[in-house]
Amino acid sequence: MNRPLGITVNRHISDLQRLHPKATGALSSVLNELIVSAKTISAEANMAGLADILGMSGKTNIQGEKVQKLDEYANNSIKRRMARCGHLCVMASEEEEGIIPVKPGYEGSYTLAFDPVDGSSNIDVNVSIGTIFSVHSRLSPDGEPGTEKDLLQPGNRQVAAGYIVYGASTMLVFTTGEGVHGFTLDPSVGEFYLSHPDIKIPEKCKYFSVNEGYTNYWDDRMRRFVKYLKEVDSEQGRLPYSSRYIGSLVADFHRNLISGGIFLYPSDKKDPDKPTGKLRLLYEAAPLAYLVEQAGGRAITDDGREIQDIEPESLHQRVPLIIGSRKEVDMAEKFLSGKG
Ligand code: AHG
Ligand code: MN
Ligand code: MN
Repeated sequence: MNRPLGITVNRHISDLQRLHPKATGALSSVLNELIVSAKTISAEANMAGLADILGMSGKTNIQGEKVQKLDEYANNSIKRRMARCGHLCVMASEEEEGIIPVKPGYEGSYTLAFDPVDGSSNIDVNVSIGTIFSVHSRLSPDGEPGTEKDLLQPGNRQVAAGYIVYGASTMLVFTTGEGVHGFTLDPSVGEFYLSHPDIKIPEKCKYFSVNEGYTNYWDDRMRRFVKYLKEVDSEQGRLPYSSRYIGSLVADFHRNLISGGIFLYPSDKKDPDKPTGKLRLLYEAAPLAYLVEQAGGRAITDDGREIQDIEPESLHQRVPLIIGSRKEVDMAEKFLSGKG
C-alpha cells in the first residue's frame, strides 16, 4: 500500500514553532518527548493481553483507587522520561499524591500535569483508554525546582493540552492555541501522521454521554436536562439524542469531538467525600476544556462556571464537567440555572 507522504507530528510541531519567531523549541521538545511515551504506552496497551500488564498492581493510589499494572507502567514511563527532558520544572500525576520533581539540574520553564491512563476500568476488557496531558508556563523563577503553585494554574493559562486515545487506532489530539489537530499512529513505522487537521466540533450534536446509573444521585435540574435530551420535540422537529457512554472520558470526549456530542459527569451525592463528581480539574477537565474551546465547543461546571476559569486549590481537585457541542452545553446551563 503506498502511503500518502503524510505530515508527521514532529514536522507539524516544528511548523507551529515557526509561527513564534522567539520560540526556543522548549515546548516542541516537551511535546516530542511526550509523544515517545505515548508510543511506548500504545505498544504496551496493544498487547496488554499478552504482556504481564493486565490486572491490578496490588497498589492503591491517592484517589483510593486500585492501581492497574498499565496505570503504573504508563505513570513511570511518562514521569521518568519527562523528568529528564530538560524543559519541565515540576509535574503532577493522577497516580501520585504530591508534586513530582524533575531531575536536579534539568529544570526548565514548563509544568506538566497528566492522567497516565484514563478509563483504567476498561483496560482488562479491551475497551479504548487514553492519556491526558496539560502544560503551563512556570510562575516561579527559572533554574529552581518548580512548586505546587506552578501547577495550580487555571485552564485559561495552559500553553498546550492534549490526549492520546488507544483505540482501534492510536490517535494523538492536541492544541497549542492554534486550533486542534489529530494524528494517527502508523505502528509499522512508529510515526504519528496528520489525519485530522483543524478539528472543529460539529454544531449538530448527535450524542449525549452520561452514566445514567447515577440518576438518583443528581440534582433535579440535571435529571430534567437529561430527560429533555431523550424526548421527541415535535415543535422543533427534534428526535432524541443517541446515548453513548464508554466509561473512558477520553474515548467519550473524542467521539463527541469528531461527531458532535455532549458529555456530562455531574456533581452527585453517591460519594459524600466526592460531592463535586469524580473528574479531576488539573489533568482531565481543564485540558479537555482547552481543546473543546479551541474546536468551537464549551466546557462548564453544573453551577455554570467555565472550567477554564477555575483557579485550582489542590492537585487532585474534582469538578463537575459538562463539555461538548456549544449549543447543548448552553442548553444544559439554562436547565441548571432553572431557566430550562
Ligand atoms: P481514570 O481511569 O483515570 O480514573 O478515569 C476514569 C474516569 C473517566 O475516564 C470516566 O469518564 C469516568 O471515570 C467513568 O466513571 P463512572 O464509572 O463513575 O461512570
Ligand atoms: Mn482519568
Ligand atoms: Mn487515570
